[in-house]
Amino acid sequence: MMEEKILTKHINTLNCHTLDFYLANGGYNSLKKAFEIGSDAIIEEVKKSNLRGRGGAGFPTGMKWSFMPKNPVDAKGNPKPKYLVCNADEGEPGTFKDRLIMSKNPHSLIEGMVIAAKAVGACRGYIYIRGEFFKEARILQSAIDDARKKGFLGKDILGSKMDFELFVYRGAGAYICGEESALLNSLEGKRGEPRLKPPFPAQVGAFGMPTCVNNVETFAVVPYILEHGGPKFASLGTEKSGGTRLFCVSGQVERPGIYELSMRTTLRELIDIAGGVRGGKKLKAVIPGGASAPMLTATEIDIPMCFDAMMKAGTMAGSGGAIVMSEDVCIVEATSILLRFYEHESCGQCSQCREGSHWLARMFVRIEAGKGTHKDLEMIERICSNMAGQTICAFADAVTGPVLSAVRKFRSEFEDHVRQRRCPQKIASRTIDAMEIDRGRAHV
Ligand SMILES: Cc1cc2nc3c(=O)[nH]c(=O)nc-3n(C[C@H](O)[C@H](O)[C@H](O)COP(=O)(O)O)c2cc1C
Repeated sequence: MMEEKILTKHINTLNCHTLDFYLANGGYNSLKKAFEIGSDAIIEEVKKSNLRGRGGAGFPTGMKWSFMPKNPVDAKGNPKPKYLVCNADEGEPGTFKDRLIMSKNPHSLIEGMVIAAKAVGACRGYIYIRGEFFKEARILQSAIDDARKKGFLGKDILGSKMDFELFVYRGAGAYICGEESALLNSLEGKRGEPRLKPPFPAQVGAFGMPTCVNNVETFAVVPYILEHGGPKFASLGTEKSGGTRLFCVSGQVERPGIYELSMRTTLRELIDIAGGVRGGKKLKAVIPGGASAPMLTATEIDIPMCFDAMMKAGTMAGSGGAIVMSEDVCIVEATSILLRFYEHESCGQCSQCREGSHWLARMFVRIEAGKGTHKDLEMIERICSNMAGQTICAFADAVTGPVLSAVRKFRSEFEDHVRQRRCPQKIASRTIDAMEIDRGRAHV
């Protein structure tokens, strides 16, 4: 299948991350266009593109930008600065696309952010990057320095009278700091705990100022949208999810990695493009949108990987990471491994999430060890119903999605564990390990 490539077109070319390379391939022309057409027209174009946030929730980007107040003032009537924040935390297991953009195509992110700054009237931007991404942080910083030297950042950008400064801020590697309000707290030097909403970041964001938060990939496709027009980007996807997307495929496929494909691509096609299930085995389950998405069975994968189709199927397109599990995988063990991750990463602010993820993890260890009972299976449902939708942020929903789908769709496997008191298949841990190993590999 030949697809148009937006972000990965030049990814295998030497020095594709440099400013010279970017400029030689039309880089920063969209920024010039942005200054010509002005803020309202930029937002209109992004709305027409049907671009939806690539960080997980799939919120329409143009609409988010239009929520930013035009001329905010403080209690004394003084104008308030507006900020832009790029979420480069990328902590979702099974998702490893943003680091590819930052290391191979950093100027598309920077240009996208300056265009967004023009659209929403921001004077300052922060790229909040996962602490472990040393290399990416270094590449980004040097790209920012180069862009500033050429007048694409800083004061009076390209003679437009617009000032915009961009900073790289390194996080400390906590999954919860990917949640936008926890990220803002962390950016302010506070403990990375989510905030109650409302107020939303567009009203009270970083340092109390109106702030627009978007994912790396969301910003990085904006130059394409301005260059080719919103309708062209929209035409690459489905009716309500425009464009291509970087899909991450991990687990038991022949060629794990990152694939830039249309949002129309079905989950089955994605697995085929990644070489199919490893070793010619049968497919058992897929977690389609990063670890937080409910699992799909082998009979449920003939649906496009767009936000609406995935939601209709009872799961999420999320951050675009498909974790593939073959017939050899023990679903109980795979879910148990995920739960240990969530138990460790819950920030502990809400008791439902803190205690719930802990008890679920303990119960799964018990079931895995052949010490579970039928009562445990009912208890899992009860604990999950006390977690989902009951907390400050969506972390608890992220825990219960894969767990409930596993227990409901693979009930017989859980029953087997309870009855046989043993784990029949023990390779799930290797599936999850493989996700780590496969991070960062691109197939384009
Ligand atoms: C627990 C949790 C973790 C998240 N982690 C990330 C992340 O690593 N990167 C990201 O872009 N969004 C993440 N999000 C989503 C953000 O809160 C937010 O919706 C997103 O950054 C908005 O950008 P977008 O509209 O471009 O998708 C996470 C959400 C939750 C609840």
